[in-house]
Amino acid sequence: MLESLRSLVQLKSFEWDRIERRLLRCGNIDDVRRIAKRNLPGGVFDYIDGGAEDEVSLGRNTSAFVDMKLHPNVLRDVAIVDTSTTLFGVERQTPILLAPTGFTRIANPEGELAVARAAAKYGMPYGLSTLGTRGIEELAAVAAAPLWFQVYVWKDRGVVKEMLSRAEQSGYEAIIITVDTAVLGRRERDVRRGFTLPPKIGLDTLIDGALHPRWSIDLLRNEPITFANVAGMTDIDGTTAIALSDYVNAQFDQALSWESLEWIRSATNLKVVLKGIQRVDDAQRAMSEGIDAIALSNHGGRQTDGTLAPVQLLPDVVDAVGGGIAIICDGGVRRGSDVVKACALGADAVMVGRPYLYGLGAGGERGVEWVLDHLVSGMKRTMALCGRSTVRDLTRDLVTF
Ligand code: GLV
Repeated sequence: MLESLRSLVQLKSFEWDRIERRLLRCGNIDDVRRIAKRNLPGGVFDYIDGGAEDEVSLGRNTSAFVDMKLHPNVLRDVAIVDTSTTLFGVERQTPILLAPTGFTRIANPEGELAVARAAAKYGMPYGLSTLGTRGIEELAAVAAAPLWFQVYVWKDRGVVKEMLSRAEQSGYEAIIITVDTAVLGRRERDVRRGFTLPPKIGLDTLIDGALHPRWSIDLLRNEPITFANVAGMTDIDGTTAIALSDYVNAQFDQALSWESLEWIRSATNLKVVLKGIQRVDDAQRAMSEGIDAIALSNHGGRQTDGTLAPVQLLPDVVDAVGGGIAIICDGGVRRGSDVVKACALGADAVMVGRPYLYGLGAGGERGVEWVLDHLVSGMKRTMALCGRSTVRDLTRDLVTF
């Protein structure tokens, strides 16, 4: 009886490792997001997951990809699918970049170190944020991935100059200047929760912390979370709890203009990416200013609400400046097929932020790896199913809106 039952049922071995067990059960990034939501206190999860105002831009970023149609070719040799591409004259394993994100260690104590290690495994460039929680040099010491450094332009140009030179000295490859944050978007989930960085301890935080004991123990066991790259350089440096909007509005230069770019270019020899371009005329201006790349981006729907999704801007921008300046598409990428769609519309690369943060919150470095693997394998599979074996073969006829 037992023998015949055994011949019918193959017993699954039990995975004892909690993180591995959960990741094994994930089918897509939504599943990873759900685990991150369970692991993280509500305020922390909402800071990562949320967008500005009615979250229209946030929703549109993903729905624009969902609504696009693929038109696959058949009977083309796809025995070998090659996801490699060239960016800034350097061959990359894939056209996927990891976006800079603020306060990354709230998702996992390793923070940016874990992301950089995972990025290196997949040969993906990773951008450290000015509002990052690991230092420029600290990250360079662990990262085999090409590193980019994201700059918010402080009113105090001395702070910016020092960060630019530290990035250059530490072997970073490029500088990303975020140009969509003159003031902070109104993230209403954060407003409702009174969310501050670092999280302020009130009764609600205590209850939330008690409901997420692993996160709380990690927080208490590890060094305090600060804005590692500006700590000590300004009067507010992340060591005292402050609403991000107050911080941004106090420190960032609202007078930043195209004219300021000349100063930034003269302060660095690294490649310069302008992140947050949302119009054809601004893309043209960036090209005429000799900028190396633009990232079409609405800051993951966290700044101006009600904008187009970056992928919807691609065709017009590519027609206007394609070939003259590298074009990165940032926002809404949740699958490898989204990478294929953006590349087919002419993006030189795509950038992802939330997906790897969900991975970090769900399973630390292994969670990030899961997400990166999901994107790369999805890209390969979509290319094979669409009859396109190289990134160069991803052409506009492959998609319609
Ligand atoms: C930081 O860049 C944020 O969007 O919260």
